[in-house]
Amino acid sequence: MFHSRPVRSSSATSSAGITMGSDPYTHHQDRKTHMMRKAFTCMFLFLLGYAACLFVGPWWENRNMLESSGDPKSQSQSQTPPVVLPSIARDEDFYRFPSKCALPLPESSILSTVFKLFDNKSPYANFPPEHLRPYLLHNEIHGWGSTNPVFEKVIRLANPRIIIEVGTFLGNSALHMANVTRRLGLENTIILCMDDFRGWPGFAGYNQGMFRSVIDINGDVILMQQFMQNVVDAGEEERIIPMPFATGAGLDKLCLTGIYADLIEVDAGHSFHSAWEDINRAWKLLKPGGVMFGHDYFNGSEEYGVRRAVDKFAKEHNLRVEPNGEHWIFFPNT
Ligand SMILES: C[S@@+](CC[C@H](N)C(=O)[O-])C[C@H]1O[C@@H](n2cnc3c(N)ncnc32)[C@H](O)[C@@H]1O
Repeated sequence: MFHSRPVRSSSATSSAGITMGSDPYTHHQDRKTHMMRKAFTCMFLFLLGYAACLFVGPWWENRNMLESSGDPKSQSQSQTPPVVLPSIARDEDFYRFPSKCALPLPESSILSTVFKLFDNKSPYANFPPEHLRPYLLHNEIHGWGSTNPVFEKVIRLANPRIIIEVGTFLGNSALHMANVTRRLGLENTIILCMDDFRGWPGFAGYNQGMFRSVIDINGDVILMQQFMQNVVDAGEEERIIPMPFATGAGLDKLCLTGIYADLIEVDAGHSFHSAWEDINRAWKLLKPGGVMFGHDYFNGSEEYGVRRAVDKFAKEHNLRVEPNGEHWIFFPNT
């Protein structure tokens, strides 16, 4: 009878130790069982290894973390000493704006020192550049309460030779202070105008496009150049100097350079944190007997951010706040 299962005629012994030639069917069954056993053993060992990885990995990681965090339980086994950082956050640190400013520069070297920030020349040298000339308007000046009588009041109080304005925009208040000082016989007064000259995001669209003439060239508004054009139009480029920096970095630079002012106006960001930072940094630049004032005391944006900053600062420094229209003035609390 024909047998469909293969039969080998050789009587040699296979590598599995099965003698060929006796009962091929049994041999085949044995071989199959043997292979299955082998497969199960491999599978079992693989699963065992996998389970070991699952349990041992996290345990090892946890152990290392405990050691590096200085956990006393693991200290005895660990050789690495724990890293202990000294605490740096004390309450008074929240008032620690640059702790020490430089000794005051002589007034005669203030302008040349400022010009070092502009490659040792006045920023008005060769102004305006050809490519901007078509875009700059003449006397394009707008502001907010920028010609209020409070300016004359504080100028009379401080009799300033150096004024720092924190927040200038198109120069309305700076030009007004230049006029008032001139009228009061203070024609040598220098006004340093600290502003990043970015306005605020999307300011050209403000109030139905009120500032759309201050165009944007490849994402760069020409606010500083329009401010400078306004200053040049007023013939005040010897006295009104742009300081085109973020207020934090710019005021710190003045502090580190030793440039102090008799009068400081704060009118940049209106949030609590902006105003708080500006007032704290600027305060270090006020000469003894100098006057600090600012705008937007009653501005409701960010829940009266400016007013909260002004009042808090006054409380910490034993000052009296005098509201004056939309402005505020600090006075010693005597
Ligand atoms: C209200 S405007 C100043 C108006 C000006 N004092 C006047 O009365 O004509 C505020 C100015 O502050 C500037 N400013 C706001 N936050 C600033 C910051 N963190 N650094 C530099 N300038 C900033 C803006 O670019 C804007 O020009």
